[in-house]
Amino acid sequence: MRTQVAIIGAGPSGLLLGQLLHKAGVDNIILERQTGDYVLGRIRAGILEQVTVDLMREAGVSERMDKEGIVHHSIELVFGGARHPIDVHGLTGGKVVTAYGQTELTHDLMDARKAAGLATVYEADNVRLHGFDGTNPQVTYEKDGRTHALDCDFIAGCDGFHGVSRATVKDRVTEYEKVYPFGWLGLLSDTPPVSPHAIVYGNSEHGFSLCSMRSMTRSRYYVQVPLTDKVEDWSDDRFWAELKRRVDPELSEKIVTGASIEKSIAPLRSFVAEPLRFGRLFLAGDAGHIVPPTGAKGLNLAATDVKYLSGAFIDYFKERSNAGIDTYSERCLKRIWKAERFSWWMTTLMHRFPGDEFGRKMQEAELDYLVKSKALSTAVAENYVGLPL
Ligand code: APR
Ligand code: PHB
Repeated sequence: MRTQVAIIGAGPSGLLLGQLLHKAGVDNIILERQTGDYVLGRIRAGILEQVTVDLMREAGVSERMDKEGIVHHSIELVFGGARHPIDVHGLTGGKVVTAYGQTELTHDLMDARKAAGLATVYEADNVRLHGFDGTNPQVTYEKDGRTHALDCDFIAGCDGFHGVSRATVKDRVTEYEKVYPFGWLGLLSDTPPVSPHAIVYGNSEHGFSLCSMRSMTRSRYYVQVPLTDKVEDWSDDRFWAELKRRVDPELSEKIVTGASIEKSIAPLRSFVAEPLRFGRLFLAGDAGHIVPPTGAKGLNLAATDVKYLSGAFIDYFKERSNAGIDTYSERCLKRIWKAERFSWWMTTLMHRFPGDEFGRKMQEAELDYLVKSKALSTAVAENYVGLPL
């Protein structure tokens, strides 16, 4: 088998890359370790920057997102028992974010890929990358008990944090990492969101909380928990009680509780691999970097990598230009580090760090300063909607 771009991983990065390349007439095959249903079963974030929305439109897969996505003009911060709005729209000259679940986005991309008849090999085992330092890379994998070989011009490592792509070049990568001493317990429920017009981030004496949504009938909530907690420790009732005591009394009253349809704990991590290019192998999305979810940047950073990478491949095949592929790593990393900074900063500002009383006082001072200072509020707003490319 032969293709122009072998894409490892059918998460949002791999699927979006495949779609953009296909639109431009660049041939690609995706190899995914899991089944399609497994990929769709992972509940993840759901706030899209304008860059991501635009890219979905460019890829021709925005119909449902344009119909069902819910535009948010502001975020709210809860601390000291009161809510403080940050008018993201007003402070950025009219920019917004769109609430649309990563699961839905993945669904739309999978449907479009199927409709276009593009090849995705699910349950591809033991994927191995070869020859990417030369001009004839090859990917081998096992499927149905047989070994297959895929020859290609480029390999796109879109296989997430635990994938094989970065692992293959681990001796050549410098890794920068920060692990936080807590996780997020998330709950999804078919209940109307308590705050349908803004995402609410809370810092309380009991820890961080987040009120978000997927639609007008589906909510997503999170609370900070110790890393030692297990999902089984958290009944739905315990979750709702904990969430309620972490927000202001008015919001707490309004929260509509109900049975969870998903509940999971995720650790928080900041991570960057440098560089993102190794000959004809490129890392994109979670394969190259992780942000803690506090700034809602993970999916959006993946989308920007894909924007640069698809452009680079298209220029190579259509214009015979190496400029895009030669500058890929450097261009991506510039934006990645800025999003890392914002996500780290917001995580540090909004969570309880066990035993750090000085840090807690810094949070109080900074939150008070933030809501009174147009300058700092503007800085938050412009990072939240996404810094310019
Ligand atoms: N071989 C083939 N596929 C693999 C392998 C492998 N060895 N290892 C991992 N994969 C697949 C995973 O099963 C997964 O479907 O690669 C895919 C990677 O998808 P994601 O982890 O969703 O990463 P990415 O597409 O970069 O999406 C980034 O997702 O995790 C969130 O916060 C993140 O929102 C961001 C977005
Ligand atoms: C979500 O809706 O899941 C969500 C929203 C905002 C975040 C993180 C997650 O910062």
